[in-house]
Amino acid sequence: MRRRRAQQDPATPQHERADLPALADREGVLEELVRVICEAWASFDVPRTAEPQLGEELAARLVAPLPEEPGGVEEALSDAVRVLDASVSPSRPLNLGYIGSTGLEMGVLASALAATYDANLAVTAGGADLVEEQALRWLSDFVGFPLAEGAFTSGGMTSNLTALLAARERALPGSRAGGLYGRRAAAYCSEEAHHSVVRAVEVCGLGGGSVRRIPLDGRRRMRPDALEEALYQDVAAGIVPVAVVATAGTTLTGAVDPLDEVADVCERHGVWLHVDGAYGLPAAAVPQTAPLFAGLERADSATVDAHKWLGVQKSCSAVLLRETGRLRAAFGHEERYMLHEGDVPNPVDRTLEYSRPLRSLRLWMAFRVHGAAQYRIWIRRTLENARLLAALLREAPDFELLHEPTLSTVCFRHLPPGAEDPDEHNLRLAREMQRDGRVFLAPASVDGRACLRACFVNFRTTPREVERVISVARELGGRLARP
Ligand SMILES: Cc1ncc(COP(=O)(O)O)c(C=O)c1O
Repeated sequence: MRRRRAQQDPATPQHERADLPALADREGVLEELVRVICEAWASFDVPRTAEPQLGEELAARLVAPLPEEPGGVEEALSDAVRVLDASVSPSRPLNLGYIGSTGLEMGVLASALAATYDANLAVTAGGADLVEEQALRWLSDFVGFPLAEGAFTSGGMTSNLTALLAARERALPGSRAGGLYGRRAAAYCSEEAHHSVVRAVEVCGLGGGSVRRIPLDGRRRMRPDALEEALYQDVAAGIVPVAVVATAGTTLTGAVDPLDEVADVCERHGVWLHVDGAYGLPAAAVPQTAPLFAGLERADSATVDAHKWLGVQKSCSAVLLRETGRLRAAFGHEERYMLHEGDVPNPVDRTLEYSRPLRSLRLWMAFRVHGAAQYRIWIRRTLENARLLAALLREAPDFELLHEPTLSTVCFRHLPPGAEDPDEHNLRLAREMQRDGRVFLAPASVDGRACLRACFVNFRTTPREVERVISVARELGGRLARP
């Protein structure tokens, strides 16, 4: 593993950098860090009864003013570990609330390495940018997207925004510099698209009110006929359609919009199709669910979060584009302090962010070390976990399954005898489960009915643990329902 140093000038002695002290005992501190990390990894497999509390004296230190004098690294490290240990971590196998991750070990190694070298990705980094591009290609191959260019971003929100800014520039050339010049524009997504789409439209300057929420079909998917109707109406009213955002895996129930039919509509109207697959797109890689994503290859752009169903740490999202040049058209700039060679742009000319970490290294390491086949096994397992939970709920007289799982999300209600208001009961149960700590579920609402929502994206979760979701909900819910 150790690299041999090339012939070079002697190292500058540390004492010449007197006010920039290195750790007095670098290796000792790193050994302690490694011990702490291994302990945390081991702890993820131990069921918890409740998240540990911060404790009063640590809580008091967290509101202390900026220290003027140096402090000990051991104490700072120990406080940081206690703070993180007391925080909700999606790496625990029964943390099924929201859309977590697995927190693969490769991601931790990659994060430490990327932070150590801190490569500058705004300009051609001499290697790190090649990793970035390879990770984008691997990711696109994995999900089946015909990549021309793309970028790693800080999250699904930023990936959606990046795509919409590129779409706006195609629909309204010059709008990035000149604004909309009084032109009216609109974007389209399903009623259950993630709120980040609305936020992205707002940031694009189109106005959040310009988002057309297209009604759902019986499988909670965007209705292409209603989309087409909305497009006709807007175009007739002189409104410019900027983009249609189809969701490939809604946050609430995992529904996948009919991409092929939506692509037909977009093609007829010449509108940019963006697929928000922040959560669901990795399921395009496994045969069981791949058919749901037919038409993805026709999209102009797609979002996929590696920090969700691909197991690496936050934040690591990617925006993928089918045509070269769209990102530069949206973000390219001539900076006098960032000259580039001829017409070859700097990487920063394809991204919204300037300084950014080498996020892609986490995914690159994970793909290299585990391989695509292992990923497919893991994803299939999470799909099976969702199906197992749905099957158990179907058989349980005191539970109601609110939808068949399309991907790995399941919404359900506990309906014990004695609970008079099911909405109130399920909201209280979600709070109680979070307090209890053994199983972390998110409260949600499907068709106005309050429920519990479990999302299986953690590769650590086992079928036995899936059964505990029901037993713990029944135990705590039963207690709440008893008069
Ligand atoms: C479908 C979808 N899009 C976008 C987002 C936003 O992603 P991020 O939290 O990475 O910004 C989410 C988050 O859950 C999501 O489920």
